[in-house]
Amino acid sequence: MSSRQPSKRPEGMSTRSVHGGETRPKAHFALTLPVVHSSTYTFPKTQDLIDYMEGRVQRGEEYGRYGNPTQRAVEAKLAKLEGAEMALLFSSGMAAITTTLLAMVRRDSHLIFTNDCYRKTRQFAASVLQKFEIQYDLVEPEAEAISRAIRPNTQVIFTESPTNPYLNIVDLEKLVKEARPRGIKTVIDSTFATPYNQRPLEFGVDLVIHSATKYLGGHNDLLAGCVAGRHGLVSAIKDLQGILGPVPGPLCSYLLARGLKTFALRMEKQNRNGQLVAEFLERHPKIFRTYYPGLPSHPDHDIACRQMSGFGSVVSFEVRASLEECSRFIDALKIPYIAPSLGGVESLIEQPALMSFYELSREQREAIGIRENLVRFAIGIEDEEDLIGDLRQALEQIP
Ligand SMILES: Cc1ncc(COP(=O)(O)O)c(C=O)c1O
Repeated sequence: MSSRQPSKRPEGMSTRSVHGGETRPKAHFALTLPVVHSSTYTFPKTQDLIDYMEGRVQRGEEYGRYGNPTQRAVEAKLAKLEGAEMALLFSSGMAAITTTLLAMVRRDSHLIFTNDCYRKTRQFAASVLQKFEIQYDLVEPEAEAISRAIRPNTQVIFTESPTNPYLNIVDLEKLVKEARPRGIKTVIDSTFATPYNQRPLEFGVDLVIHSATKYLGGHNDLLAGCVAGRHGLVSAIKDLQGILGPVPGPLCSYLLARGLKTFALRMEKQNRNGQLVAEFLERHPKIFRTYYPGLPSHPDHDIACRQMSGFGSVVSFEVRASLEECSRFIDALKIPYIAPSLGGVESLIEQPALMSFYELSREQREAIGIRENLVRFAIGIEDEEDLIGDLRQALEQIP
């Protein structure tokens, strides 16, 4: 595709979403990506095997746990979207996070995580890394706090940006300035931003991770994850993936490739929906506080404007209501489904206190900043007037 371009201007995100990384012509001259269902790949003769082992011939595949051709095609597209040398696809976002971190740490490592982040990532640090006596600190998601936590043996800084569920933004330029001279690797979970809105590698971040289950897949019908960055770093993670085995199957890879075709269109609509719904909620008398980086009232709004081109469609807000009244408001909504996850075409809504943090007591939840009246609204691509009308009528149900 790029060889046909008359100018050096990088292709836009919609062109990259549709054509990025795709070969021409494809097998059987098909227009769409072939789904290759094979758990193993054959060598015509023993000499072909020996030539492959000796590196005299390059071929794509050997055995399904090391990858499949459909997966490779999606990886090429994701690398184009992130502006990365290499991308690697996994069976879930958590598989991408855990395999990446396990590939990077040593026995005497110290890691820094941020405290507002997907709960399972924190649980991985607390339960798995701790078991191998790998030290870590959990700090506020801001560059100064991260920098204060750096120790002589700090090896990796891992943070989301925006974070889940409060949508805090970490200043990537500042972060890299602190980490790079000390040889510390930076890993950003950019799931809430997507490469449409933020490309951390352009700021010098070492690795970017996504739960592709969310905006990248976009249709709430698959689980996948990816990591992207320099060839050397991603290759080492790929070697560990081949041992641990969290590879996406061919059909899942195809669904992701298909979902990505409309990625830019969906993001444009979801960015707009997110902004308009956040502005509506912020003005509403029954809403105590709205968290959305596109609002000037958000504490990280200036950083967000510097490093992002849109702010996504997750809006968190606190309702002036008790836990039960808040549930009644959610139950009165007609458009969103009550479900975890985000980034798909259907709007989803949840009270984090009753979803990801259900088993904790009220005191334990409040200690980690999860208030009873907090709602996380993951907006889809429905019409903004319908979404706002639905919120308006449901808020009227609150006394
Ligand atoms: C920011 C973030 N990172 C990672 C994950 C994990 O992704 P997956 O569910 O695909 O394993 C999630 C899931 O909600 C998430 O919100």
